[in-house]
Amino acid sequence: MIYPIVKLGDPVLERKAGAVTEFGEELKKLVEDMFESMYAAHGIGLAAPQIGISRRLAVIDVTFKEDPEQKLVLANPEIIHREGRQKETEGCLSIPDFRENVSRAQHVRVRAQDASGRWFECTGDGLLGRAFQHEIDHLNGRLYIHHLSALKRDLMLRKIRKLQRAGEWK
Ligand code: NI
Repeated sequence: MIYPIVKLGDPVLERKAGAVTEFGEELKKLVEDMFESMYAAHGIGLAAPQIGISRRLAVIDVTFKEDPEQKLVLANPEIIHREGRQKETEGCLSIPDFRENVSRAQHVRVRAQDASGRWFECTGDGLLGRAFQHEIDHLNGRLYIHHLSALKRDLMLRKIRKLQRAGEWK
């Protein structure tokens, strides 16, 4: 099932999501649906709040279907180490048609549970490291615009409000 992506302005995106506590068939189905919804929206990462579900769950595939082994499910993820700095252009499925340079750690180590509830650790550099930080931010009610200068953020928000008023932000 493909879920519609929730856009900036919906309060679910700015709420801290609740822990995943049940690791059964329902969660596996949700994970499948999240990958399907992410690919349909041409994304490389998707957090559950972006489909209106306030749970600490995210899926990532920085290869976009190229390498199924790179598909990652992160339940209750936490960043346990960060190092270095990178500044690259970033977008978000919940803020379509906008991109901005965002400063992030270059290298992060994450601890999370998989779809079966097993804890694991993994490391991400560059794009994968960026995806980890971006998706975990979503679970804490933060969007990349919160990393921009107030000036840039206000400019973007003004443009978005204009689109909302014109009925072009759904
Ligand atoms: Ni996003």
